[in-house]
Amino acid sequence: MTQRATAAQVVARLSTEDKVRLLSGRNFWSTRAVPGVASVMLTDGPHGLRKQAGSGDHLGLAESVPATCFPPAAGLGATWDLELLEEIGEALGREAAAEQVGVLLGPGLNIKRHPAGGRNFEYFSEDPLLSGKTAAAMVRGIQSQGVGACLKHFAANNQEFNRMRVDTVVDERTLREVYLAGFEIAVTESSPWTVMSSYNLLNGEHTGESYRLLTEILRDEWGFDGVVMSDWFGTADRAVGVRAGMDLEMPGSNGSWNAEVHAALESGALSHADLDRACERLVEMVQRVARDDASPDEAPGAVDHDAHHALARRAAAAATVLLTNDGLLPLAGTGRVALLGAMASTPRFQGAGSSLVNATRVDSVLDSLRSRLEPQAQVEYVAGYDPASGEATPADLAAARTAAAEADVAVVVVGLPARHESEGFDRTTLRLPAGHDALVEAVLAVNPRTVVVLVNGAPVEVPWADRPAALVEAYLGGQAGGSGLVDVLTGDAEPGGRLAESFPVSGAELPASANFADHPTQVQYRETFHVGYRFHDTCGVAPRFAFGHGLSYTTFSLGGLTVSGSGQERQVEVTVTNTGERAGSTVVQVYVHDVASSVPRPEQELKAFAKVHLEPGEARRVQLDLGRRGFAVYDTATAAWAVEAGEFEIRVGTSSRDLPLRSTVVLDSPDTVTAVEAPSRPLVDDAEFAVLLGRSVPAPRPLLPFHRDSTLSDLDGTWLGARLQKLLLSMAGRRVSVGDDANSAMMETAMAQMPLRGVVMAAAGRLTYPVLDRAISVLNAARRGR
Ligand code: BGC
Repeated sequence: MTQRATAAQVVARLSTEDKVRLLSGRNFWSTRAVPGVASVMLTDGPHGLRKQAGSGDHLGLAESVPATCFPPAAGLGATWDLELLEEIGEALGREAAAEQVGVLLGPGLNIKRHPAGGRNFEYFSEDPLLSGKTAAAMVRGIQSQGVGACLKHFAANNQEFNRMRVDTVVDERTLREVYLAGFEIAVTESSPWTVMSSYNLLNGEHTGESYRLLTEILRDEWGFDGVVMSDWFGTADRAVGVRAGMDLEMPGSNGSWNAEVHAALESGALSHADLDRACERLVEMVQRVARDDASPDEAPGAVDHDAHHALARRAAAAATVLLTNDGLLPLAGTGRVALLGAMASTPRFQGAGSSLVNATRVDSVLDSLRSRLEPQAQVEYVAGYDPASGEATPADLAAARTAAAEADVAVVVVGLPARHESEGFDRTTLRLPAGHDALVEAVLAVNPRTVVVLVNGAPVEVPWADRPAALVEAYLGGQAGGSGLVDVLTGDAEPGGRLAESFPVSGAELPASANFADHPTQVQYRETFHVGYRFHDTCGVAPRFAFGHGLSYTTFSLGGLTVSGSGQERQVEVTVTNTGERAGSTVVQVYVHDVASSVPRPEQELKAFAKVHLEPGEARRVQLDLGRRGFAVYDTATAAWAVEAGEFEIRVGTSSRDLPLRSTVVLDSPDTVTAVEAPSRPLVDDAEFAVLLGRSVPAPRPLLPFHRDSTLSDLDGTWLGARLQKLLLSMAGRRVSVGDDANSAMMETAMAQMPLRGVVMAAAGRLTYPVLDRAISVLNAARRGR
């Protein structure tokens, strides 16, 4: 057998031209082939394959091959079930392998800083430990099939508004403890083959051009040995990116950057060693994908779409969170059931944008409920509101009222219409559409035996929450969301979900609301760690529903807490007993409270968890490891994780607000934690923020004069803006084949917020950087002369 050439040998044989070409994609979805290196296909997305056959797009507009649409990440995060996540990852990997896809562009694991984030449905949690562990499980599953996974979007990409040029200003400790910790866990525990840098800037630097982020932190500290690719059209300076460790520009930009990269090589601004290193990493990735040591029985087989649909159904039930229940659920399964709400028959099961999957089939709640309950029960359906707009007419409400009044049980399905929640833009309110609230009120007024089901990708305000007999968060359930939900409503499956994010009473109470999506070029994370339950628990503000919360159809007791270990590490053991009559699962959650600290810390933080499935009467001893990081803070003065000696309280229970078991430990530790004064409020003022940042609070980059990072919307009303928009439209027009309300909203925003540098990349050679730069200077000169 001939030995395969190493990546270094392959790269050594390439010309400089070929090396530069290799580092930019061949087209929308593939890497470039050069002598000795095959092309590899990369495809979205996090919860299903979105393989586009022809020239594609990254906005979910053009058709893709049919694939299983699993529940999006918001639901998967709520399962807290790492085994299930691994199984779903395997299924995704199988579908990708069968379609000759080398890398699946997911999972996404950005922190849900604010519930209004438009893309929150694509992310797991507000908590880094849960996000990181969940992502790692999924990566292990995907990669077990010989397909690479891609952690995205690295990093601090927590809003959609002006996502391609907004500068996230965040202090180092918050960055490490809240926004990077999940990536760190996923990288160290699952060795992903690729990572995608994010669109935004981080503390003044494009993330794809940050040596510190991509080389010092990701590679040197965490040991990442794969490829970093850009987010689509996210490149801002290719030569700087290569030097920083951003190996692959995606999609390909027809050589738009090549002249600049060659010039940087000539001037020495970019070294040949850096170029070679990026190429070697890419070649290694291609070699991983095209393994020539794979045995014939490892060749991808046909996908069993029925089995994957069944898995998606199981996942939907496992993601369903029972928020309240006075005993009406599970349904008795007899009598008259009024099913109200258009989402029951026109399912919304995924979000718009690059994660949009062309599902192999879709189960509606209406069909699933009918086929499960009839003829023992009668199901009467009334739409109650318009599925697209969410508006309810007086006639809609009257019909719903009549049906509900005559029924033994009413099930109301409400949530967010597609246009309210999408990649590309954020929500402007946490309320449901007025018609949905009106439907709930109308039904509650005539029938107290009402179950309300929420279908949405992120928390909503539910002022009427304590009035229905039961309230269920179904999230966006994927293609089997309807049948999975009916399994839970009827008790065929248990509600497996526990909230992976807090539901605030109102968005106004959240500190991050003061600085969220409020400026076109900058966002300041002045709330520091006060995100999600870290805010609610530290500031004593009760959420509507707490992080970790979720009811079961059975009951559990927790007891026998013991803590062992020494030095800076501890292990926890606890006995969980199913004290009810049905099989079910619960999530044991371990939080750590630092009794006295030299730095301000959240009241408590999740440090370990375990999902436990038990038969009636069954008891199990569960072990959870807190390790050293369970107690550590990031000490900015020494740039290291440090454990401060002293007392810590270990709190164990089933939500951040229900932690009945407690034990205090005293840790020995040689570390020093440099003292930091606690700010007066959760939202730091200018002086406090400057201290945390270690520099004065940066002024946002002005919109004028125009530059490459200006967006088309900045150029509104100018001749250049009009021309570039026309060019972009003509390029997009070639690809767009389908479109609906949500997609057109997404498309409009994506266009308006596209930086000018991105227009060059998208223009397939019809515009170059020198031409763009000249046009910008002319425009700026004309403005000055005005
Ligand atoms: C998204 C990525 C996605 C890429 C390709 C971008 O707009 O941010 O998550 O993988 O497009 O579709």
